[in-house]
Amino acid sequence: MEIPADLGRVLVIIPTYNERDNIEGITRRVRESAPEVDVLVVDDASPDGTGALADAMAAADERVRVLHRTGKQGLGAAYIAGFRWAAEHGYDVMVEMDADGSHQPEELPRLLAALRDADLVIGARWVPGGKVLNWPKRREALSRGANTYARLMLGIHLHDSTGGFRAFRAATLDKIGLDGVESRGYCFQIDLALRALHQGLRVVEVPITFVERVHGTSKMSRDVMAEAAVRITQWGVSDRVGRLRAPRPPRTGR
Ligand code: GDD
Ligand code: MN
Repeated sequence: MEIPADLGRVLVIIPTYNERDNIEGITRRVRESAPEVDVLVVDDASPDGTGALADAMAAADERVRVLHRTGKQGLGAAYIAGFRWAAEHGYDVMVEMDADGSHQPEELPRLLAALRDADLVIGARWVPGGKVLNWPKRREALSRGANTYARLMLGIHLHDSTGGFRAFRAATLDKIGLDGVESRGYCFQIDLALRALHQGLRVVEVPITFVERVHGTSKMSRDVMAEAAVRITQWGVSDRVGRLRAPRPPRTGR
């Protein structure tokens, strides 16, 4: 499957924190499945030397670039830095992808094809045709639960608003406006999806097969979960209060 040429220049952004055993394999797979896209690794000064490995890859392949940050500041902050870099360098499409192989680069052309009729495409696990391989039951329950809570609390139609394999049009990120985004951890994903919906943009979910990592460990933590729970609740409540305060349509008749 070819990447639709009319989408323009595509940048795949891969945030890394201690992904030494994954970064080379994932980058090679991206370059093989979509030779016309560029890759930006955003490394938060990984103690395991991921940043140096990424530099070596960049030296050998002009389509690979590296953004070094000074310390671990969370997934959301890493992506915002990556999006800014992409905008400064004139990219038309920004893709989010984990470094650990959970998001399969071979599915990228299908995500990009869907972007022709959408402003944001989310690779979704919890939709018909979507799958998760090798996740512990506990982790699956957490993700399904978080997604159900987000859907009900926020009144959105999405089934995988926490999913981190996505493609944005540059114009979508412009309209969302990244300056106001405060989410630092994984709830960043819900935050951006919600902002896109509030802007009236077309958000489309396409089924993916998510594969649990083989090397390294997840950076999901109690803090990350707590931030998500608090923020979803805040967004849901302020949305409801906003609707209560909004002027009601005038009564007719009488
Ligand atoms: N630069 C940087 N800074 N990268 C980070 C940070 C950080 O603070 N925290 C995590 N990452 C990178 C990891 O190195 C990996 O490449 C990617 O972000 C995802 O992190 P994982 O730790 O592998 O996430 P997960 O497998 O537990 O979570 C998956 O599911 C979440 C919830 O559905 C991911 O797909 C998330 O994107 C998703 O929100
Ligand atoms: Mn992972």
